Amino acid sequence: MGHWALEDIPWERFDCSKLDPGIGRIVKAASLVEYNGGAYAHHLCRIFRDDPDFQCAARRWGEEEIQHGRALARWAALADPSYDFAAAFDRFQAGYRIDFDTAASRRGSRSGEMIARCMVEVGTSSYYSALRDGVREPVLREICRNIAADEIRHYKLFYKTLTRCLERDRIGLWQRLRIALGRIAEAEDDELAYAYYAANETSGLYDRRRCTRAYARRALALYRQPHVQQMVAMVFKVVGLAPHGRLARAATQLAWRALRYRTARLARIAA
Ligand SMILES: [Fe+2]
Ligand SMILES: [Fe+2]
Repeated sequence: MGHWALEDIPWERFDCSKLDPGIGRIVKAASLVEYNGGAYAHHLCRIFRDDPDFQCAARRWGEEEIQHGRALARWAALADPSYDFAAAFDRFQAGYRIDFDTAASRRGSRSGEMIARCMVEVGTSSYYSALRDGVREPVLREICRNIAADEIRHYKLFYKTLTRCLERDRIGLWQRLRIALGRIAEAEDDELAYAYYAANETSGLYDRRRCTRAYARRALALYRQPHVQQMVAMVFKVVGLAPHGRLARAATQLAWRALRYRTARLARIAA
């Protein structure tokens, strides 16, 4: 059982006069990525093939991610009744392919895999918090409030599993940092860009750079400093650094400045 269900969302309060331009496009893209969560749960079960307790938690996690996709898709169809989620998801699956059936983690160890999973949850928890705080439409705010709370719980699940894995797969600060930063950099890879394309474009060729920019321009503009501070604290905790120390404060300032610079640059390019 998840912590909330689609029936808990007050769909009748949907207010089209409070739709923010461009938000529908990034919500559609997110609905596809989230709905694909079941495939990754299968991959985690293969990696942790001798750990039935974790497998059970991973399947529950996958179901929650799928529910995120369903809720966002339903909202997107309210905002744009022409949105055909099933067709968009087919396009996404046909164009974005990863071997989810392999039992080998791309991160080299179970600890590495958990660090990468934590980074994804850092990204999603901060993103839905930023979306919740940045949009005016009340139903979307409520959906994002629920999703952000789930994503924090997912982070805690993977962090707890990481501490257990580290007892066997000990990896040091630098390697942890390398995996964490590597996974953060992958946010610019195909997954989100292709989801943006599959959700919003039914003709024309896929252009990763253009789709990455179109998605990032709308998504990054939602972030405020407290969201960045929370992200940095969560990343620091995973790599084994003090989440609220002097270094974390400096990293927050640096990340916030970099984010503002990138947001302004993307806005200039789009103008
Ligand atoms: Fe999610
Ligand atoms: Fe999650």
